[in-house]
Amino acid sequence: MIEARIKELRRLIQVHNYRYYILDDPELSDAAYDHLMRELQLLEAQYPELITENSPTQRVGTAALSAFASVQHEMPMLSLSNAFSEAELQAFDQRLHDRLKLDEASEIEYIAEPKLDGLAVSLLYRQGQLAQAATRGDGTTGENVTQNIRTIAAIPLLLLGKDYPDVLEVRGEVIMPTAGFDAFNAQARAADQRTFVNPRNAAAGSLRQLDARVTAKRPLDMYCYAVGKVEGDAIAVTQSETLSKLRAWGLPINPKTKVVQGLHACLDYYQSISQQREKLPYDIDGIVYKVNHLAAQQQLGSVSRAPRWAIAHKFPAQEEMSRILSVDFQVGRTGAITPVARLEPTFVGGVTVSNATLHNMDEVERKDIHIGDTVIIRRAGDVIPEVVRVIIADRLANAEKVNIPATCPICDAEILRQEGEAIARCSGGLNCSAQVKQAIKHFASRKAMDIIGLGDKLVELLFDHDLVSNIADLYQLKAADIAALPRMGEKSSTNLLNAIEVSKKTQLHRFIYALGIREVGEATAKALAKRFTDLNDLIETTPEILQEIDDIGPIVAQRVYQFFQQASSQESIRELIAQGIHWSVIEANAIQKDEELPLANHRYVLTGKLSQFTRAEAKSQLEKLGAKVSASLSKKTTALIAGEKAGSKLKKAQALNLTVLDEAALYTLLH
Ligand code: IVH
Repeated sequence: MIEARIKELRRLIQVHNYRYYILDDPELSDAAYDHLMRELQLLEAQYPELITENSPTQRVGTAALSAFASVQHEMPMLSLSNAFSEAELQAFDQRLHDRLKLDEASEIEYIAEPKLDGLAVSLLYRQGQLAQAATRGDGTTGENVTQNIRTIAAIPLLLLGKDYPDVLEVRGEVIMPTAGFDAFNAQARAADQRTFVNPRNAAAGSLRQLDARVTAKRPLDMYCYAVGKVEGDAIAVTQSETLSKLRAWGLPINPKTKVVQGLHACLDYYQSISQQREKLPYDIDGIVYKVNHLAAQQQLGSVSRAPRWAIAHKFPAQEEMSRILSVDFQVGRTGAITPVARLEPTFVGGVTVSNATLHNMDEVERKDIHIGDTVIIRRAGDVIPEVVRVIIADRLANAEKVNIPATCPICDAEILRQEGEAIARCSGGLNCSAQVKQAIKHFASRKAMDIIGLGDKLVELLFDHDLVSNIADLYQLKAADIAALPRMGEKSSTNLLNAIEVSKKTQLHRFIYALGIREVGEATAKALAKRFTDLNDLIETTPEILQEIDDIGPIVAQRVYQFFQQASSQESIRELIAQGIHWSVIEANAIQKDEELPLANHRYVLTGKLSQFTRAEAKSQLEKLGAKVSASLSKKTTALIAGEKAGSKLKKAQALNLTVLDEAALYTLLH
């Protein structure tokens, strides 16, 4: 009776673990789950003779080891060769075609998955029970980390189902998700303890603890990506089927894993994951492609320590070493003073970086940044490059401390820092040319009025030649004045004036965002436009009414209220509207969701020369209608838009049997 209940509880806990960790679809509340666990713990405490090694209560051992035993991997744990460019990946695909004697036209089926930045481990299940876990080590000999692995909740101690092989070795990557990493470091910092440099070191450091009770407190997770030794029936004929089986037995498989056909689909997958990279809950450093059919894998075999049938397509490194040459202070749109490090030019994240933000003086102090320091810099995705940390051991004797100036480097007004605020600000307001320039840049930017072609450099040029001194001046620009500017001509002058003209027809939320009200980003602007379909109502509102809007708190409400109270703001709005800026009230009423836009789920590729648009304009207009515009063709491409002198892309589109549109068709599409 008691024994039956204990077994039932273990089974229930196992099933709910599976739903929670593997299917990501929990059925029980945390409290109800804890309740089951508690009941099991109580029963086991009463009847210790009924405790089994793989009961879910037995994940954490009680004694620390003096050393890890070594484990011989019967099948070596291989590593991967790398590709750092599309060309290298293409060469890989070509090599496989040659070796498999496939003709050009046939596409190899690959399985693509993120390359996780953690450490590789091997899990050995005997009769469905976790019997041993080992690190990769040098590929042949690893360390026995069974006790530590057992503390990772995502890893099943018992496999589900019945059809698993008698002996099953599963391989995968143990990771520390970024949220857990940040929380761990924040806690360590608060307690003045050692922090980890990155999630990979944190995962490795946490797993290789002699005391599993320490590991148990670390937020580790795991994804499995392969099998090693298997005794019993063959599992599957493809890699993807193998992974499905593993998942059904309760092992964690990365949900982003995808079967793709051919090189181009690999590249699309790479693009798509690159774009999601910053939002993924864990660090990745590339994509792994593997030939999906196991028979083809066999045929291809391995060279030295890497299989021929797989490759890691690496993202450009996001962290590199550099040196701080000097520190300047930049003035932002709201007067915020940002210290910026001038760096020895360094190739990182796919581009050469020579500046990195230092955020504010608190950060400079916290990271103990000196001029002359050797530093690790990071450029992740489109995020502004930053200094991660100083290599203190390399500090030179003449390294200089960073001091904030007393007055604005642009307008000489006093720099003030309010009590409790990290940010110091120039007190010059609109007398500070830096603040005005930034306001104009913001006004013209893509999510604001979207004046195509009016970027930072051109704003500087217009301002420095006294053609604009505020946003409303943009709408009074004369063609001849623009054309007379250095490096401008009639054509670029006409383009700019056209873009300014086009920007007059806008949407209320863009206009509100464009005004550059402090604390009002795109989302707040949308919320305001939804609540106040008439701009005059917004101008005349009160902080109380503003606070009734979801997500608007007292600070934002006060900022918005103060902004519209100022005579200068009202004057500027009147002037802009007098210049012809307008929006339709219906549009303001129904801010469309992306998926409702007319070209949602359409993908285009642009090639060749267009006569009525620049490529950037065509791209921007397509995107406004919800379309995706990508650089390379794939089977998912809706159509190739080919201007004059289209070359290889056009040929490829024809080969792929894709729709090809000319400029006239594009024009129709957009109107
Ligand atoms: S497959 C036979 N798949 O990358 C192929 N490895 O550079 C063995 N890694 O040692 C590896 N994510 O630690 C594979 N989705 C993934 C991976 C992955 C991370 C690691 C693994 C391996 C290293 C090779």
